[in-house]
Amino acid sequence: MAFQYINRNEHLPATASEISDRFNAHDAWEMTDSERLALIGLLAKLRPECAIEIGIYRAGSLSSLSRYCKKVYALDIDPTCESQFRGKFQNVEFVTGDSKQTLPQVLAKIEASQESLGLVLIDADHSREGIQHDIDSILRYTPSAPLYIVMHDSFNPECRKGIKEANWSISPHVHLVELDFVAGRFLTKEEPESYKQMWCGFGLAILLPEKRNGNVIVHENESLLYQTTLRHSVYGSDNWWNPTYLARELKYRAKCLLRRRAPGFYETLRRKWGTK
Ligand SMILES: C[S@@+](CC[C@H](N)C(=O)[O-])C[C@H]1O[C@@H](n2cnc3c(N)ncnc32)[C@H](O)[C@@H]1O
Repeated sequence: MAFQYINRNEHLPATASEISDRFNAHDAWEMTDSERLALIGLLAKLRPECAIEIGIYRAGSLSSLSRYCKKVYALDIDPTCESQFRGKFQNVEFVTGDSKQTLPQVLAKIEASQESLGLVLIDADHSREGIQHDIDSILRYTPSAPLYIVMHDSFNPECRKGIKEANWSISPHVHLVELDFVAGRFLTKEEPESYKQMWCGFGLAILLPEKRNGNVIVHENESLLYQTTLRHSVYGSDNWWNPTYLARELKYRAKCLLRRRAPGFYETLRRKWGTK
């Protein structure tokens, strides 16, 4: 992650020593400054009664969610997140497990208790299928208040595909989908292991209690930036005429089709072969 000037307490460095501190220590919040500001701005404006974070890691973004929301459900597959941060945030309920299973359970609980869900931050399984699964789970929920879905890493090609291919039209409550609410990053040599990879960026979807008229349009405010970057990135060979890519793409599409059309059979195969 590039330098982040705003610290996890949302403090802007004001002295020379605070600025040099920011250069010497990374606070392990996995978001850029523009993303932090956007998230804090949304939270401060919305003040959600209830929110969900999928992907805790070192509780960077969770610290802001906890500050602005009355109640937060924090989900992570890694049990050490819960043991590390339980007790540090009074209004956070930790849920450990794969979000494919835990998210539908949490949403059912929120629906049953009539809590007003105002924001979901998705930043967990970054595979195309993983993010799509998280979004599809949320789309089965009927919002009782405006619901903002913030999707991290929408600039990453796999995540972006997952967001684009989610079943947005299944929910009549979806009124807006924007892949580039905040634009992402093209990583430089300063992060040699990730050089020329594309990460970060916020996608945003807004669901309302009232039903929409017409179809859902998935907007891409920064499509030119995305396409140009993609051509120069490590993912540049992801083209239909590349046989490796084509084979991967066909396998993925067959899997999705099976999951949608025959979920029982898909689950049996998944358990048998241990595929994700
Ligand atoms: C990028 S980090 C989250 C960073 C955090 N939102 C922040 O900015 O401070 C991703 C987290 O998602 C978790 N994760 C990955 N796959 C998951 C899954 N299938 N279900 C739940 N959590 C998952 C990882 O354990 C990791 O802690």
